[in-house]
Amino acid sequence: MKAITVEPMKASSARLEDVPEPDPRLGSILVEAVAVGVCGTDVEIVEGSYGWAPSDKERLVLGHESLGRVIDPGSAAGFKKGDLVVGIVRRPDPVPCPNCAVGEWDMCRNGQYTERGIKAIDGYMSERWRIEPEYAMKMDPSLGIFGVLLEPTTVVAKAWEVALAVGGRSFWEPQNVLVTGAGPIGLLAAGIGVQRGMEVHVLDRVTAGPKVDLVEMVGATYHSTTVSDLDFEPDMIMECTGVGQVIVESLQKLASGGVICLTGIGHGGSLSGLAPADIAAAAVLKNNIIVGSVNANKRHWYKASQDLARANPDVLKGLITRREEPQNFQHALQRQPDDIKVVVQFSDI
Ligand code: BGC
Repeated sequence: MKAITVEPMKASSARLEDVPEPDPRLGSILVEAVAVGVCGTDVEIVEGSYGWAPSDKERLVLGHESLGRVIDPGSAAGFKKGDLVVGIVRRPDPVPCPNCAVGEWDMCRNGQYTERGIKAIDGYMSERWRIEPEYAMKMDPSLGIFGVLLEPTTVVAKAWEVALAVGGRSFWEPQNVLVTGAGPIGLLAAGIGVQRGMEVHVLDRVTAGPKVDLVEMVGATYHSTTVSDLDFEPDMIMECTGVGQVIVESLQKLASGGVICLTGIGHGGSLSGLAPADIAAAAVLKNNIIVGSVNANKRHWYKASQDLARANPDVLKGLITRREEPQNFQHALQRQPDDIKVVVQFSDI
């Protein structure tokens, strides 16, 4: 079968190639790939700066934002041929650490977790893949192709849970939330914020186009200024850019008692004229919480599937801006100005 594979940490090594049928050790359910979303992590892996191959191989099958159709459920109860499923990304570390032992693999303490398509287990960008029943999420068939948005929604569902949980360390009634970045994570975060009854503001650089339209469709307010120039102090900030300047301005803008949840994974950059101790002092004096959030456990996968089912279908439709065939995967990985979520489509739905 065909798969999109890469030699991790080696730039320009990605290719579409013939690989053996999926290893039965990866799960008893056999699935035909429908679509796989592309995100910044995939781009980093293909650029040679992230990713790990399985221990017995040189190459990794890419892809962690899956959607597939069951070909053979094996002996798994609750699954049948034709069901639409999405595969969970992370697996607990083998030790296991206390968090993995209780099913919180997203909070793994020793870093020995594995991730489909990212860290030491083959991903979902192959014509067929296998999944363990306990890591397969059955999708409502009415969601169709939008099921491919479940994985990024889980990341956001966890971030919301974390931000609200830590904010609740004292009396706190957050009214407004700022989401920085109108990519898929930012737009999904904004949608969940509106669903939770919050006043949501989204900030990005573009001044027109699909991102701006989608923010309005979600029921949030769009801003194309800098964070410093905003005329309000957010109670909560969902930081979805990973850009140093945006992060620092966000820390300075956060309201007293406010929470900033960092979800973007950026690199490098430098800031002149800012002293870390001054930034820290402001956070101390304002009782701010700065919290990072990555990945998601089964509780978040469950919550995210509910959030996705409640989302406005026109918004979900607008989020998927490009579908590419597997042979054009290189094109799928190249960002274009109006891209939001690009998916590699393996079969019809
Ligand atoms: C994925 C997460 C993963 C993280 C770090 C993100 O792109 O969505 O599931 O934990 O990368 O590898």
